Amino acid sequence: MKIIKSKDYDQMSRKAANIISAQVIMKPDCVLGLATGSSPIGTYRQLIDWYNKGDVDFSECYSVNLDEYVGLDITSDQSYVYFMRHNFFDAINIREDHTFIPNGKNTDVAAECERYDNQIASLGGIDLQLLGLGRNGHIGFNEPDQVFTKGTHCVDLAESTIEANKRFFASADDVPRQAFTMGICDIIQAKKVVMVVSGEDKADAVQKAFFGPVTPEVPASILQLHPDFTLVADEAALKKVL
Ligand code: F6R
Repeated sequence: MKIIKSKDYDQMSRKAANIISAQVIMKPDCVLGLATGSSPIGTYRQLIDWYNKGDVDFSECYSVNLDEYVGLDITSDQSYVYFMRHNFFDAINIREDHTFIPNGKNTDVAAECERYDNQIASLGGIDLQLLGLGRNGHIGFNEPDQVFTKGTHCVDLAESTIEANKRFFASADDVPRQAFTMGICDIIQAKKVVMVVSGEDKADAVQKAFFGPVTPEVPASILQLHPDFTLVADEAALKKVL
């Protein structure tokens, strides 16, 4: 595990964007595993800036997103499809048919999970997976549990996740209670994993995930075992450990 300490959110975002753009330059048809939430927005902004300057080209890239809420239409401005288009895809030259996100409207849960895992496999797996970190240690929507779930599955969101994500909705009642998420195997089979974490409210999660035991009670802790995992975090998020 490598830890890259940054002064603040902007510096964290630039460093993470540097790693991603190096990946795209080295392998133009790479498969990027992408995340939503507040943590990667600055990274996406920096990549858009470099794309606009002609420094990075996404025309041959593929992307697979970690997760999607169950029940939201892709036109909903809370859906992760909308988030990705709005914060990244619409501003770069990635082909729409190269971008993949679980279909939150598929009521056949087992079929959707199988379809998504097959999709990832048919792309040859993930070259670089970008992650954020939940305050309860979740990655994707793999919530604290007694076991690690391997493949894509449908989860009941933890109360703490609903609470944390209500800021994106009109109220906590509007936050969907379930989501599709890639499983732990999907994530750790990525050749390279980069996590962006910022802010004091993540300091406990960073300590538990990367300086404590590997346990499904703190899903991100599994990344301690990944051969190419880089944590890019700001000083506030690292304050309990470095
Ligand atoms: C989102 C995702 C989540 C977030 C996590 C942190 O696709 O996979 O695991 O990365 O909830 O969210 P933020 O960045 O909003 O603090």
